[in-house]
Amino acid sequence: MKILMLTNAANGVSAQLLKKQAEKRGHEVETYDPTDLVAFISSTVSGHDQMYVKDTHSEIQRLYSKQFDVVLARFSGRDVFQYGLAMLQHFNGNLKVPVSSDPLALSIAANKFTSHQCFSLAKVRTIPTLFVNKPVDFAFIVKKLGLPLVCKTPLGSQGSGVFILSDELSISTTLSAFSRTNKNLLLQKFIDSGKPSSDLRIFIVDGEIAASYRRWALDSDFRSNYSLSHSGEKVKLTTEEEEMALAAAYSVGLPGICGVDIVRDSADNNKPYIIEANGNPSLEGVTKVTGVNIAEKIIIYLERIARKSSSKTKDSEEADNQLKSFVMNHQIQPGTLEYINQLARKGDLNGAISELRKTMP
Ligand SMILES: Nc1ncnc2c1ncn2[C@@H]1O[C@H](COP(=O)(O)OP(=O)(O)O)[C@@H](O)[C@H]1O
Ligand SMILES: [Mg+2]
Repeated sequence: MKILMLTNAANGVSAQLLKKQAEKRGHEVETYDPTDLVAFISSTVSGHDQMYVKDTHSEIQRLYSKQFDVVLARFSGRDVFQYGLAMLQHFNGNLKVPVSSDPLALSIAANKFTSHQCFSLAKVRTIPTLFVNKPVDFAFIVKKLGLPLVCKTPLGSQGSGVFILSDELSISTTLSAFSRTNKNLLLQKFIDSGKPSSDLRIFIVDGEIAASYRRWALDSDFRSNYSLSHSGEKVKLTTEEEEMALAAAYSVGLPGICGVDIVRDSADNNKPYIIEANGNPSLEGVTKVTGVNIAEKIIIYLERIARKSSSKTKDSEEADNQLKSFVMNHQIQPGTLEYINQLARKGDLNGAISELRKTMP
């Protein structure tokens, strides 16, 4: 198959591992930086939307989406992320190419507060968290979260934008400084994982736990990101941790590819708490520490969704044809069709026809 990898880190370890495994399995990979893409929305009612790419000489070339079996999303960073999501949505929603991860789910997961809302709804044990825009009464914060507390910008990654605050002065000055720039903050109870600090990274691929490891923080730090410390070891998860990790990935809509972080509370029998779900998890640490070939698992997952999509197309064509003849025979107004078509595409032809009957005089 032909894979389009959307990445702004084509030479990074993760992208290279994925490319190597894809080629090993006989696939072709074309890599584009999302910010080099130009999306065209057509004025045609039936929607002949298109995608273009600026080549190295800044010339615009048409990128024929039909040649690609699947788009793999591997982009991140403040400057690229939103535009990358829009391009991913264009491929998926408008050009009908299957994608590795749903753009809306990636957007939810990238925001530490919206993802915590999902965890909470899915009853995954969250760390007590406040989301604030303006400075808040110190006594209220301490009552809810205790001291010290962890403060986070909602969109940070790799540990940047995560810091610890331990007294009234540092909390009030931090909150008022961020408030003046109209930046929201997450305040969170500090979970003491022991010394040195550590957390668990659980890598989920295609709805299953593919690998997991414990990441160690540097002695002087409480953040266990592999990108900061480059140290970790294999870990055996408890059943509760496995269930939590899967529920967290599903709750944000990323059961396909997700890196879930969990922290064990050393002061309470290692009770596990969810930290976050990453939609663009690095392959470097997990591959080095566990030896599991995560890149290959991801490519096998892409093979499955590409296959599923091509068989779904046949089914939905069949459903479309049946619907079309039903509509012609019963003189249904074209304006009522979109919702019905959606039902039919989901494979619920009977539901679609019964909805159609309701619209008939
Ligand atoms: N509430 C917390 N209590 C203790 N440690 C935390 C807490 N929140 C985050 N950490 C530590 O900081 C690291 C980075 O935090 P995280 O929320 O995952 O941000 P990032 O997206 O930057 O990785 C975590 O992997 C964990 O080691
Ligand atoms: Mg993290």
